Parts: sequence; C-alpha cells; structure tokens
Amino acid sequence: MAKLVVRGGNPLRGDVAVSGSKNSALGILAAAAMADGESVLDNVPSHTDVFTMCRILRELGARVYIDDDHRFHIDGSGLSKTKPSYDLVRKMRASFYVAGVLLARLGEAEVPLPGGCAIGSRPVDYHIKGFEQLGAEVAIEYGYMKARSNRLQGAKIYVNRASVGTTVNLILAATLSKGVTILENAAKEPEIVDLSIFLNAMGANIRGAGTEVIKIQGVERLHPIEYGIIADRIECATFMIAVGASRGEATLHNVVPEHLRTPIAKLTEAGLHIEEGDTEILVRAHKKPRAVDVETAVYPGFPTDVQQPFVALMSVAEGTSIVRETVFSDRFRYVDELRRMGADIKVEQDSAIIRGVETLTGAPVEVPDLRAGAALVVAALAADGETEVHNSEILERGYERLGDKLAALGADVVLEETVTGREMRVEEFRRSVEVEST
Ligand code: EPU
Repeated sequence: MAKLVVRGGNPLRGDVAVSGSKNSALGILAAAAMADGESVLDNVPSHTDVFTMCRILRELGARVYIDDDHRFHIDGSGLSKTKPSYDLVRKMRASFYVAGVLLARLGEAEVPLPGGCAIGSRPVDYHIKGFEQLGAEVAIEYGYMKARSNRLQGAKIYVNRASVGTTVNLILAATLSKGVTILENAAKEPEIVDLSIFLNAMGANIRGAGTEVIKIQGVERLHPIEYGIIADRIECATFMIAVGASRGEATLHNVVPEHLRTPIAKLTEAGLHIEEGDTEILVRAHKKPRAVDVETAVYPGFPTDVQQPFVALMSVAEGTSIVRETVFSDRFRYVDELRRMGADIKVEQDSAIIRGVETLTGAPVEVPDLRAGAALVVAALAADGETEVHNSEILERGYERLGDKLAALGADVVLEETVTGREMRVEEFRRSVEVEST
C-alpha cells in the first residue's frame, strides 16, 4: 500500500539517532503485563509490531497506553483472558510470547500457532516442549496451542539451537514458577539480557542472562517499575551499511557499540572506517567496499537480521563474496528483487554468491519481508536512478520513520501512499495508540 521512492547517489551525511530495540521491546512489553500495577517503559520504538503487541495485551485485559512523552504504560492487574485473537497473533511471531505470560499468570493459555513466513518455516515446537518440561499440559487443537498448569514447576531445559524466542518464553514462564529452572544452551542475545534486567528489577530472580546457562529461581509475584529499552542493534547496523553503500559519513547516536562487534568487524574488513564512542558510532566510507565473506550465527555472531542489507552492500563491492545463512531456512528470497536492480547474485542452498557490480540501477521492487525491505532501500541508495520500493509499510514493523531519518541524512527519499492505504494505516495506528483516560 505504501511506496518509498528513492533516488540513489546522495552520500548519507550527518547525524542520526537510533531507536529502541524492537525485539527487546516485544519481550519486555509482554513481561510488564505479568505485574499488578503500572510499569512505564521509555525508548519503545513506534513500530507496527510493537503496537500489535500492545493491542494483544489489551485484548487480554491489560491496561496499555502511551503518554504524551511517548512512554508506554502497562498494567497487568486486569489480565484475565487467555485466548488472544488469531487476527492479531497472525501478524507477528513474537505474539507467542503471551503464551509464557498467560501460563505464568493465569495458568492457562490458548494461543494460535504462528505459521511459516517469508523467511522460512518458523515452528514453535521448542517453546511447547519447554512449557511441557515446566509441567504444563499442552495440546495442539484446531491451530491453537492449549496449555494448562496449576502452577509451573522449575526444570532443567536444554534450549534447541539457542532459540531467542524459546529463551524469552521460558524465562517469562519460569519467572513465576515454583522452584528453579535452568536453561542450558540459552540464547545470549542482548535482548535476552535486557529482558532479564527488566524482570529482575520487577522482583524476579534470574542469573546468567547473556551466557549459555540461565538460572531462574521462581518468585511469587512481580512489581511494576520504570525502565528504558536498549538501542536497536539491527537498525544501527542497517544505517552503518547504508552509509557504506552511499559512500557517506555519518554518526549514529544512542547506540551500544558492544552489541555490534561482529558487524563492525565485518564492515571494517569491507573497508569502512568505523570509530566507536560510548554511545555513538562514526562511519566513513568514501570508496567502493571490498568483498567480504560472512556467515550468520547466533549472538555474538553475525546477525541473520543484518544478512540482507549486507548482501545489498556486497552487491556493489569490489570482488566476489559468499554470504551463508545458518539461522533461517529460506532467507534469500529477496535476492530476486536485488537482481532486478542489476545485482549479480546466485543462491546455492544456504549461501548467496555475490559478484560485485560496478553499479546498480533503480527499478520498481517489492518488499517481501522486513529485513529484505532494508536491503532494497540500501541498494536503492547506492543505485543509479529511481527505485520504487513497493509495500514499504512492511518496513514500519521494525524501522521507525526510516524514510525521514534517511532524508535527514541527505537521501532523496519520498514516501508515497494511496489515499485508502494511508486512511487504513492511520486508523489502525489510531486504534493502537489511543490514549485511555487516566
Ligand atoms: N526454531 C524452531 N522451533 C522453535 C523455535 C525456533 O525450529 O520452536 C528455529 C527457527 O525456525 C530458526 C531457529 O530455530 O531456524 C532460530 O530461531 P529463533 O527462535 O532464535 O528466532 P525467533 O525467536 O523466532 C528472533 C527475532 C528474529 C531474529 C531471530 C534470530 C524476535 C521477535 N525475533 O526470532 O528477528 O531473526 O531471533 O536472531 O526477537 C526480525 O527482527 O526481523 C527478526 C526476524
């Protein structure tokens, strides 16, 4: 419905503030609904996925509103319903986090199973196995997971593939359980650490977040707090790459450079000049990037969510690079769109072989999924001529005002929407952020 029109060739220059982390916010918003009383969250990004989570929590009986300073207020006192609607849950996979919250708080959850999506099959079998190990009775019926337990009981659980979502859901569920839960092979992503710091401040007892073994001593209840979400490392990496692709120079503010070790190392190898401050990163790129091989991996490896914009950068690099995707089964579908812009990319099983071309050319392209959309925008910034990025509303799932931020850095970007499209989105947004009277 929306379309970003990008005329390439302007080097990005200046300063940009990176928003709060989407994936941190999604877990923390759900966690906030586990306490009676109002928690207040700062630095929550205005992403459509964030609003979807808010709407689901409201539907379940939590009180959620956004104040004039864009702080999110969440009060779980009224949490009483155990079945979120399919229409909301199907919008994003992280909706499944409410399963952990409902089981912990109400002893019952009936949540639609998320289906596959544009990045490959995305089952929730590890989550379900974990709930069972915590003592829940689980049945899959008519597309729903129905889980029940009087009170969950701590257990020792091995998290398959160090899954991020499973680690989040089991932390949520175990926080209010009886006894001790040990998660082995837990995800180590910064978003897991952020969630654990948040929950501990609410009265939980979680140790070891950020390592492979997380120990959760269940507590009786949590209390509300005020908290600020960490910066979005994926948005930050995307901007670093965009600066590289446009051969510009910019400083990214409000970031956590430690969260970006591998992307910084790989971009430096590709010839970008990067300087780190405490909470900012300067990126300078005045020449063509060099080809660099990358393999995605769980944190602290190269993030799968940065794979796509990185492939776009490699499309205009000097030489041939191989990018291997090891996290998701089908995360190269978007390369067809990059090829329309003149990229020379061959996909063989889990790897993309990218032969850098002299220049890309603007073309009409379509966003298949969030991070692929970022790749198309990066390519458009580097391309000769105009690129119409269709379905660009998908970018709003994880990038806050991307067009405005790029325009402020000097990019020639215009957001076009059909009248009906804009009306529908504005209406949806209004319903999501509607401020309740206090
Ligand atoms: N997996 C299963 N069964 C499960 C859970 C996961 O087979 O029950 C598989 C997945 O299909 C995948 C692998 O295990 O192949 C790892 O998936 P993981 O559970 O770690 O991913 P996720 O929790 O679904 C989160 C982020 C993703 C990010 C991945 C990997 C959130 C809300 N989402 O997804 O973010 O790519 O971790 O880092 O935190 C994005 O922001 O665009 C995005 C997709």
